[in-house]
Amino acid sequence: MSTPIVSTSDLATFDSAAVPLDETSRAALAERGLGYVTVDPSEEGGESFARWSEAVNRGFLGERSTPEQIESWRTRAVGSRVVGVTDPAGALPEQPVATVQSWAAELTVDDGRTIPSWGISAVTVSSTHRRRGIARALLGGELRAARDAGLPIAGLTVSEATIYGRYGFGPAAGATRWRIDARRAGWVGPQPVRDGRGRLDPVEREAVQSDLRELFGRIRVTRPGEFEPEEAFFVGFSGLNPAKPDLKLRGVRYTDAAGVTRGVITYRMSENMEDYRSSTMDVDLLLAETTDAYAALWHYALTHDLVGTVNAGELSTDEPLRWMVEDQRALRVTESDHHWLRILDVPHALAARGYRTSGAFVLDVVDPLGIAGGTFRLEIDDDGNGVVTPVDATATPGEGVVRLGISELSSLYLGGVSSRTLLAAGRIETDDATAARFDAAFAAVRPPLLSYWY
Ligand SMILES: CC(C)(COP(=O)(O)OP(=O)(O)OC[C@H]1O[C@@H](n2cnc3c(N)ncnc32)[C@H](O)[C@@H]1OP(=O)(O)O)[C@@H](O)C(=O)NCCC(=O)NCCS
Repeated sequence: MSTPIVSTSDLATFDSAAVPLDETSRAALAERGLGYVTVDPSEEGGESFARWSEAVNRGFLGERSTPEQIESWRTRAVGSRVVGVTDPAGALPEQPVATVQSWAAELTVDDGRTIPSWGISAVTVSSTHRRRGIARALLGGELRAARDAGLPIAGLTVSEATIYGRYGFGPAAGATRWRIDARRAGWVGPQPVRDGRGRLDPVEREAVQSDLRELFGRIRVTRPGEFEPEEAFFVGFSGLNPAKPDLKLRGVRYTDAAGVTRGVITYRMSENMEDYRSSTMDVDLLLAETTDAYAALWHYALTHDLVGTVNAGELSTDEPLRWMVEDQRALRVTESDHHWLRILDVPHALAARGYRTSGAFVLDVVDPLGIAGGTFRLEIDDDGNGVVTPVDATATPGEGVVRLGISELSSLYLGGVSSRTLLAAGRIETDDATAARFDAAFAAVRPPLLSYWY
């Protein structure tokens, strides 16, 4: 039934907006008297998009958007699949009571390896219509539609960690949020600028935008967990959204000795009027392509005059920064789930990443939604390439065999958690020796990370 996209080069011509609505979900919603519609952001006048965007604002506890903000949002939404659920019996029959938006883009699954993924966003159900199975119909609809369109995996970032496991998503890349007492930290890391290996310069927001685009384009394909951002990401992160210009945003660029831009930091300052030396720097994004750029930009942030506190989010679970300060207790680091993935096609997803050791495993995968389950044999050759073939019979967990849910497999996929940890947590079934072999093969080149929300 499915025709997976095996090459990410297919994405250039893939029309996300044309992916048809799922008929199972349409029937489930119709049974409740509800409509299931797509909204075309390029439609003249943009009225249906304006109604849809207002439903999203309401769902996310936000205020109404100005016409300029809706227009900017509408332009960014063109090309994605914008879906609403309508209630013809309601007071606003044309305004959706539930929303979702999705599009296909590249997900990095290993250093230099990417896979097409169905990014899902703007999931809301009006509070007046909650807990009637609308989100279940919407999510099931997204996953079946993506699978039928040939996408091997789906992903999202979430407002609550309790919503999506039931649909087969698993947390695959964690994130950390840092609060740094800058004066207490004490820099002991490298100082590439002092040592003449590069320089720092303030840059204007337009330059930030092009630096981010260029650097992120190179960096994201080396970091498992990163999802190819749309252009709006670069506009937003450089403070240049015309409907919401960010006058506080500052940018600093790191250039290496050869004059090549290797890193950029964007941040906002909040002055402390009672004690100027205790002002706060909120780092929005720090992108570094080299270890020198990384050290130079963090050194800049942690030793900035008048700054007592540095805050940063969406950092990795294993930042070298921790080892660049003298006093690790100056760092308050909180960790949470961040990038959730949902494998839709086990053979294609597993064949897309590289493995650290050779070997063979049988995976008995249970999928509550009946999308991707089955028994599969994964064979990894000496070059770390995996080939997956479906197996007819189910297998008994133990020597060489792992029984697990699609949610757990999705969490293990990028190497962000070990199978030994999930075994100890009672989340998968196998034996210790197989779990140890599995972890050696599935280890990540670096901890998976997603630097932003979508
Ligand atoms: C989260 C939200 C989309 C759920 O919509 P809904 O239509 O009420 O959900 P459903 O009725 O389809 O519920 C489906 C299942 O999810 C559960 N569920 C719903 N909302 C949940 C929540 N916030 N936390 C945990 N479980 C939740 C239901 O109990 C139900 O469980 P079950 O069928 O497995 O027994 C809706 O509450 C909402 O819009 N919240 C605010 C915006 C938001 O946070 N969106 C998510 C963005 S990532």
